[in-house]
Amino acid sequence: MSEPLAQLAARLRDAAHVGILTGAGVSAESGVPTFRDAQTGLWAEYHAEDLATPEAFARDPLLVWRWYAWRRELVAAAQPNAGHVALAGLQRILPRLSLITQNVDGLHQRAGSEGVIEFHGNIQRTVCSVERCEVSVPDDTPSDEVPCCPGCGALLRPDVVWFGEAIPVEALQAAGTAASACELFIAIGTSAQVHPAAGLADLAAQNGAMLAEINPEATPLSGRTDYVLRGTSAQLLPALLQAVSAIKK
Ligand code: OAD
Repeated sequence: MSEPLAQLAARLRDAAHVGILTGAGVSAESGVPTFRDAQTGLWAEYHAEDLATPEAFARDPLLVWRWYAWRRELVAAAQPNAGHVALAGLQRILPRLSLITQNVDGLHQRAGSEGVIEFHGNIQRTVCSVERCEVSVPDDTPSDEVPCCPGCGALLRPDVVWFGEAIPVEALQAAGTAASACELFIAIGTSAQVHPAAGLADLAAQNGAMLAEINPEATPLSGRTDYVLRGTSAQLLPALLQAVSAIKK
C-alpha cells in the first residue's frame, strides 16, 4: 500500500464527517466520456455553447434534445464501476459521508450510494422548460421532434444545469452545508474548473477541513491539498475502501 493511500485511509477512519465531490472522471471507467480530457472529452469534439446553454436550446431545441438523448442512452447502457461501488461501501462504514456529484449519470445511486447531492441535475429526468415540473417521456417518443409538456405545451428539456444557469437551490444548500461541516473533503475525478462546484473545496478548507484529491492528473486544487492520490478512481477507491476497512476503530 502506498504511503499517501495509508495516510488518507487513517484520516478517513478518524473523520466524523467526510465530504466528497465527484466529477466526470469517476464515470470514465464505465465508458462515459469526460468533458475536458484532451482526446476523449466531450468538449474536445463539441462546443458547449451550442449544446449546453439556454441560448443553444432557444436557438435549436432539436439539436440539443438529440444530443442529450444520445448521452441518456449511453449512460443508461453504462454500469457503475469499481470506484462507484467502493464509494457506496465507504458510506456504509463511515459515520457520515456526504456525496456531492457534478455527474448527471445517476451511476452513484445505481451503485448504492444514498442521499447523493446532484449538483448539476440528472440526465434521466425530463422537465417542462417553463414550469420545471417533471414529466415522464415514453421510450418510443419519436426522436425527430422535441416533446411538449402535457400541462402547458412548452418544450420539454433534460433536468440538467446548463452553463449560465443557477445550481438547484436544495443541492446548493446541501452541498454548502456538507462542505462547511466536514473534517475531510475529497475531490475525485474532477478538473475543478467549473464553479461553483470547484469552490466547495475552498469552503471546506476555510472551515478547517483537510483536502484530498484523487485524479490521474494535476488540477488547480492539487497545490492546496493535504493528500494527493494519483491514479484512476476505479483502481484507487477499492484500495482505499480496503485500507479503511482494515483499520480497527
Ligand atoms: P472534466 O472533464 O472537466 O474533468 C474530468 C477529470 O477527471 C479530469 O481532471 C481528469 O484528469 C479526471 N479523470 C479522467 N479519467 C479518470 C479516472 N479514470 N479516474 C479519476 N479521474 C479521472 O469533468 P468535471 O470536472 O466533472 O457541467 O466537469 C465539471 C462540469 O463541466 C461538468 O459537470 C459539466 C462540464 O461542463 C455542465 O455540463 C454544467
